[in-house]
Amino acid sequence: ADEEVYRASTYAPVNIAVVKYWGKRDTTLNLPTNSSLSVTLSQDDLRTHTTASCSPTFTADSLTLNGNPQDITTPRTQACLRELRALRHALETSNPSLPKLSTMSLRLTSANNFPTAAGLASSAAGFAALVRAIADLYALPTPPEDLSRIARQGSGSACRSLFGGYVAWNTGTSPDGSDSLAHLIAPASHWPDMRALLLITNPSQKAISSTAGMQQTVATSPLFPHRAAEIVPPRMRAMEKAILSRDFDSFATLTMKESNNFHACCADTHPPIFYMNDTSRACIRVCEALNVAAGRAVCAYTFDAGPNCVVYYLQADEQVVAGSFKGLVGEGKEGWEGKGVEARAAPQGL
Ligand code: PMV
Repeated sequence: ADEEVYRASTYAPVNIAVVKYWGKRDTTLNLPTNSSLSVTLSQDDLRTHTTASCSPTFTADSLTLNGNPQDITTPRTQACLRELRALRHALETSNPSLPKLSTMSLRLTSANNFPTAAGLASSAAGFAALVRAIADLYALPTPPEDLSRIARQGSGSACRSLFGGYVAWNTGTSPDGSDSLAHLIAPASHWPDMRALLLITNPSQKAISSTAGMQQTVATSPLFPHRAAEIVPPRMRAMEKAILSRDFDSFATLTMKESNNFHACCADTHPPIFYMNDTSRACIRVCEALNVAAGRAVCAYTFDAGPNCVVYYLQADEQVVAGSFKGLVGEGKEGWEGKGVEARAAPQGL
């Protein structure tokens, strides 16, 4: 019967790291080898919408993405469901008048408005939306830091999508991952003229998943331990300082060096992993040329585990930056299908 269906819907935005998460010290719990820091993009342009419902009439948990049934039995998804159900069960135990949602099957329906698994952090928005939708359905009083700890077990970077604005994920030291969670560095309103340009150089699925790429990097790259121990920790401090003081020049320089160091570690694995393509490298050269011509940093490129480019810039430099990539990736926002798509996104609070 319809009245027995409980339902909640939510959006979660994509985040793009400026200090990259790459490497796991625990592959089951998704515990990272280094801290990371990201900017949450506007959910108008890049987001997952998820509806979670449950009913005594549902016979099994299910999940669809853009209308296609997904495997819900993966250990990562199961870890999220298990933790959320345990929190709901505790609520029901302390308040017996609550409906026993924790015993019912869940129906999860998700939709992305951007290409899935193309290096645009689709899993980040996906798991953040899944966790928040279920937490809302269950009316959990859980703070976002604790939800981030749960979302982390779905996909590491997802823990940062529980917050808007500028977000850090600390490695933590506890072997059970209890202190490996995200926290807010600054809300989007702290630096409202920050912009991101998304240059889709190839919208298809990436060749090597981030999980496989990280595993191979940790196992075979001699450069990687140096990155985790020596390069990232001071960069985390410098990046936080640059954001808090709205110092775009430092923010941009650190962002570009970070992307380069991450992709250098990928190239240093055996066999090497190449996420960027010729168009990606052309985007880097355009950014370099714009910065040299301006005599200051007006834009900063960064690439995740895929060939698509994200360019951060300030609104005041929109004229200089935004049109400069048209020859590389085409014009206009034509949806998220096909080459030649770009969209502008502002970091946003939730
Ligand atoms: O969340 P995962 O497991 O897909 O890893 C994402 C890794 C990068 O996007 C390359 C970097 C990051 O910090 O988001």
